[in-house]
Amino acid sequence: MVVGKPLLTVQQIQKRVAELAEEISRDYEGKEIIAIGILKGAFMFFSDIVRLIQIHTDIDFLNVSSYSKTESSGEIKIHSGLREEIKGRHVLLVEDIIDTGITIEHIKNMLLAKGPASLRICCLLDKKARRKADVRIDYKGFEIPDKYIVGYGLDYENKFRNLPYIATLKNNI
Ligand code: IMP
Ligand code: MG
Repeated sequence: MVVGKPLLTVQQIQKRVAELAEEISRDYEGKEIIAIGILKGAFMFFSDIVRLIQIHTDIDFLNVSSYSKTESSGEIKIHSGLREEIKGRHVLLVEDIIDTGITIEHIKNMLLAKGPASLRICCLLDKKARRKADVRIDYKGFEIPDKYIVGYGLDYENKFRNLPYIATLKNNI
C-alpha cells in the first residue's frame, strides 16, 4: 500500500481545527470540560484542538481498536481505560473518524453509564455513507467520501500515522 492523493492539506485541516476549537470554547464558556482523546487515531487531532480550546480542559485518553486492515471488525477492544473520574463532569469525546459509528456509540454508552453531567462528540472526519449506528456528532470537521484514508493520526496497519496531512491509500501492485 502506498499513499495516494492528498484529500485534505495541512492548511485545510488547521483552519477547520481552529474553527471547531472556537465553537467549542464558545459553547462551553464559563464551564470546565474533560476532553477524552480516543487513541491511537485521534492523537494528532486531539493535541491540535486542545491547545486551541480557550476554557479549562482536563485531559484523558481511551485506547481502543476495532479495525483489522481496512475493515471495522465491529468488535471493540479496550486496551486501556480512563484514569480520571467523569461523574458529574462535562465530557468532550475527541475522535479521528466516524465510519460505521459502532466504535463511538459503544464508547458513548460506556461513558454515559458513569454519569457525566454532559457528553458531546467531536470528530474530525465523517464517512457518512457507511453509517450503521445513528450517533449524533456535535462537532464535525469534514464529511469525506467512502475511501480508506491515512495520515494525521490515521493508519493502515499502524503505518502512515505521522503524515501531517490526510491522503487516500492505494494498492501499489
Ligand atoms: P467505526 O466503528 O466503523 O465508526 O470505526 C471508527 C474507527 O475506525 C476510527 O476510530 C478509526 O480509527 C478507524 N477508521 C475508520 N475509517 C478509517 C479510515 O479510512 N482510515 C483509517 N482508520 C479508519
Ligand atoms: Mg479511532
